[in-house]
Amino acid sequence: LPILGICYGMQLIAATLGGRVVSDKEREYGHAIIRHTPSTKENESTPLLAGLPEAMPVWMSHGDRIAEVPPGFRALASSETIPLAAMGNDKGVYGIQFHPEVVHTPDGDRLLRNFVIDICGAREDWTTDKFIDETIEQIRREVGDAHVICALSGGVDSAVAAALVHRAIGEQLTCIFVDNGLLRREEPERVVSTFKRHLKIDLRHIDAEKIFLDDLAGITDPETKRKHVGKTFIAVFEEAAHELGDVDFMVQGTTYPDVIESSTENGAAATIKSHHNVGGLPKRMQFLLVEPLRYLFKDEVRGVGLELGLPEEIVLRQPFPGPGLAIRIIGEITREKLEALRSADWIVMDEIKNAGLYHDLWQAFAVLTDTRTVGVQGDARTYGFAVALRIVTAEDAMTADWARIPYDVLAKISNRIVNEVSEINRVVLDITSKPPGTIEWE
Ligand code: XMP
Repeated sequence: LPILGICYGMQLIAATLGGRVVSDKEREYGHAIIRHTPSTKENESTPLLAGLPEAMPVWMSHGDRIAEVPPGFRALASSETIPLAAMGNDKGVYGIQFHPEVVHTPDGDRLLRNFVIDICGAREDWTTDKFIDETIEQIRREVGDAHVICALSGGVDSAVAAALVHRAIGEQLTCIFVDNGLLRREEPERVVSTFKRHLKIDLRHIDAEKIFLDDLAGITDPETKRKHVGKTFIAVFEEAAHELGDVDFMVQGTTYPDVIESSTENGAAATIKSHHNVGGLPKRMQFLLVEPLRYLFKDEVRGVGLELGLPEEIVLRQPFPGPGLAIRIIGEITREKLEALRSADWIVMDEIKNAGLYHDLWQAFAVLTDTRTVGVQGDARTYGFAVALRIVTAEDAMTADWARIPYDVLAKISNRIVNEVSEINRVVLDITSKPPGTIEWE
């Protein structure tokens, strides 16, 4: 089988097949330029680097490097710091030291394409409608005439998964929407109108605001907030599911990044925030899972959603965290703070959309800090909360940068918030990238 080892993968191939890997004193991290290593034979070009620039910018991140290729391999590319930036043999086994999968390697897609299409011989025939047809068939086969439930959050993934399963089995699907009282203004109404009225899906809307807020009272620690929201969700969901009687299957909007990020088999990434690990339901609630989006990335999920006729407002929306506004209110959560944050958030969205920036941004939102500051409004002294604007660009949420929003837009947002939201008298802008900051404040 053709193999492409990336970074550590290349080193593993080298070490396993008899090459030599050495440790450098310093880690190489960041931009580098690689150049094709001239081949000894005139016409021996490598299909892996075909069509790629002679001097190609790439992203490096390694501490060790290859000092000697294994027998049968030859060097394919070098950089200024490492003579062996890419290697390959004539059996289709390749290694590259740099990362083709990140945006900082602009031609990385082309390289991966060369590998997948030309070297592996994969056909490029994936389309959203084919995917939908095949998945519908598969869901029908899998589920038969059983009753299926789906927890809707209002987010893209669960919405698309539900719409797809509904297309496959219609009335056998019941969706449960647990309204945790931590959503943005008009969100619950939007979920109900899209799914119940527009898509005619059997939707149970559970208003659990009081249960969630009572349970969160007095809690200030971010991870404790998340755990409480998660636990309460399971309790409320379990009760709702129980009322439906016999249910064998549950739909989950798991996507491929969830699968990758939650795989801890190899002791992969450390848990940064607990949401990065796909949480499981308790043992007594074991349903068979239907995860139709398991192998899709976000842009593919969106394509499928649009193809299924979901409104753009749902499909192209910015991500919103499961614990909702609970992790955007620093300190204790109260109804008053939630209302103030909702009003501020509404203004942020409004002005970002008015400025035509919504789709250029990964996320734009307000965070209600726990800090009060003195202000003056009219002739009176005020002592209100400071909110922070968090407006970021990202390709995926693993890294992000603060967006360079025009000053006029920021000015409008700030003016409107302090004028329209009486609890807030100061607006600050968060200019931290991720890493080292995370996108959410908690
Ligand atoms: P961070 O804050 O980790 O966020 O940089 C990365 C992305 O994940 C979202 N996020 C969450 N989503 N449950 C979720 O479902 C959570 O607890 C959670 N925390 C952060 C965040 O909005 C961003 O898009």
